[in-house]
Amino acid sequence: MSEATQSGSIDHVLHERRLFHPKPEFTQKAVISTVEQYQELYAAARDTPDAFWRDQANEHLHWFEPFDEVCRWEPPHANWFVGGKTNACYNAVDSHVQAGRGDKLAIIWEGEPGDTRTLTYRELQTEVAKCAEGLVELGIQQGDVVSIYMPMTPELAIAMLACARIGAVHSVIFAGFSAESIADRNNDASAKMVITSDGLNRRGNVLPLKATVDEALAKSPTVQTCLVLRRTGGDDTPMTAGRDVWWHDVIDKQPGDLAAKPLDSETPLFILYTSGSTGKPKGILHTTAGYNLWAKRTFQWVFDHREDDVYWCTADCGWITGHSYIVYGPLSAGATCVMYEGAPNHPAEDRFWELVEKYKVTILYTAPTAVRAFIKWGDHHVDKHDLSSLRLLGSVGEGINPEAWMWYHEKIGGGRCPIVDTWWQTETGGIMMSPLPGITPTKPGSCTKPLPGVVPMIVDELGNDVDTEHGGKLCIAQPWPGMLRGIWGDEQRFVEQYWTDVPGNYLTGDNARCDRDGYYWIMGRIDDVINVSGHRLSTIEVESALVSHPDVCEAAVVGRPDDLKGQAIAAFVTTTGRECNDELLKELKLHVRKQIGALAQPDDIRFTAALPKTRSGKIMRRLLRDVAAGRELAGDTSTLEDLASLAKLQEES
Ligand code: WT7
Repeated sequence: MSEATQSGSIDHVLHERRLFHPKPEFTQKAVISTVEQYQELYAAARDTPDAFWRDQANEHLHWFEPFDEVCRWEPPHANWFVGGKTNACYNAVDSHVQAGRGDKLAIIWEGEPGDTRTLTYRELQTEVAKCAEGLVELGIQQGDVVSIYMPMTPELAIAMLACARIGAVHSVIFAGFSAESIADRNNDASAKMVITSDGLNRRGNVLPLKATVDEALAKSPTVQTCLVLRRTGGDDTPMTAGRDVWWHDVIDKQPGDLAAKPLDSETPLFILYTSGSTGKPKGILHTTAGYNLWAKRTFQWVFDHREDDVYWCTADCGWITGHSYIVYGPLSAGATCVMYEGAPNHPAEDRFWELVEKYKVTILYTAPTAVRAFIKWGDHHVDKHDLSSLRLLGSVGEGINPEAWMWYHEKIGGGRCPIVDTWWQTETGGIMMSPLPGITPTKPGSCTKPLPGVVPMIVDELGNDVDTEHGGKLCIAQPWPGMLRGIWGDEQRFVEQYWTDVPGNYLTGDNARCDRDGYYWIMGRIDDVINVSGHRLSTIEVESALVSHPDVCEAAVVGRPDDLKGQAIAAFVTTTGRECNDELLKELKLHVRKQIGALAQPDDIRFTAALPKTRSGKIMRRLLRDVAAGRELAGDTSTLEDLASLAKLQEES
């Protein structure tokens, strides 16, 4: 147990000592294959950022006109590659056709019902140009905002790229959101168009997307046009004359030869709404050149991309992970990407492994919440399939508990695949900290080290640097090309939320600790810290201890008010099937006590069938805090995936 010495620094109590070295076979062929190579890149980006990023941008993006200034930094505003003209769609698509690689597969797509489609880079270029021509015909111009609310079809990526091609700003809205959420987003961004589909396939059912959009459009006065892809068929799709048009009527007839428009580096590329911890969703703004470069280079470094890889990121394009690591990163790098439309458990719980086997996926990038679901569903689903094509595994979205890490490593990776635990945020545009798979020995639960260009800083309550092994607020001390440029229409919130606490530095909102080896450990959101008898504990460590018990599947830990201790520890637990009785309860308390110490032993443990999660799979601790304290639920629940699980928890309390 470490002592809390600094001003409100956070105690770190969980000790993870396992270390996994990359296999020499992997290292030999790796893009970054020596520690010295990384150190040189890192030092160059930190010490001479202008020279470093000038070379990176010139080498890795196409420029219609060269830039004359690398970074104009007037905190908190950064302009990157000032004076240059480029186009993210050109970099992601046309550049490969230009380079003679037009016949390479860009997208291998599989629909939930099992239908498939492939697109070479040349085919993608034509489809994107046709879509762009259609958008122009429908009155979309540079600077207009286009909302995209679609299933994971190739047309979703095509629509994003078509916007980028003409300088329109896309705002992708995850297709699980309600009409209310769509309308909020349309109105906040003054969207001029919505692109959607008739329906969406989900676990064998058809969800009527267009009907939901219609409800939203009744409250979205700025939207003039709705472009509708036919995906699920049926002739009952409501179409409003003068507003709604079919994709196949408008796009299919286009010639497909519209060239990508040269755009200023700082041209807005997209807005992506993310839920703040409370209140109204915020539109994170990313612009063209810096974001594009960051997505491409981080993809190449972290995923060790090689020409013959088959890469699959299981995220949805409705999240930043889909933007950066399904569309802009991998396509700019010329990768072959698998894209899957549906649920991981349809028609059965082995769908992912069937896809890995079928397409000989070499790199798999998924989320801890999925990994924990696979563990719960059972190993036999995995054992049915040959996963020997895999060479690298990635994780994103939240910390991956050491237990889930080990299962992913052994069961999916066959013990031979490095795991890259990638820490980043919607705001950072791309991965900030991650192992480099050829060189970084990994520790389960740590996102290891910063990428070149990322200068992390951990501070206490007063803004002073904390020592090694102490937890504190994680900030980023230098601008980087992929950083957010603002919150759409809300400069004040942008300044207050990210740039005020530790002036001049970007406040991530996460707590972290750096260990003696220079490895970073994310300790959860700043708001999630609990204070027990004056000790500040990170919820994630208590959760990891709980999950390391063989009968626990998932755990969420929050603080609740306690007269004596300040806060008591309340845990919500789902089990892998064992009966939830007092005996198990005692066992779990004892288990945490053994793993961490008496201080971290939960006061209450509640068994539940499911934990309330956001639609992107993050546990909603904010709501659980209310449940634990017996309070009325406060704040926004619009991004909640499963309201039922929460209602049930409340009833029981
Ligand atoms: C927050 C960002 C990153 C893209 C998808 C989510 C948490 C993310 C990790 C990780 C520990 C992680 C952080 C972060 N998070 N990745 N590898 N280890 N925590 O993007 O919705 O903007 O969420 O997710 O708390 O701040 P997002």
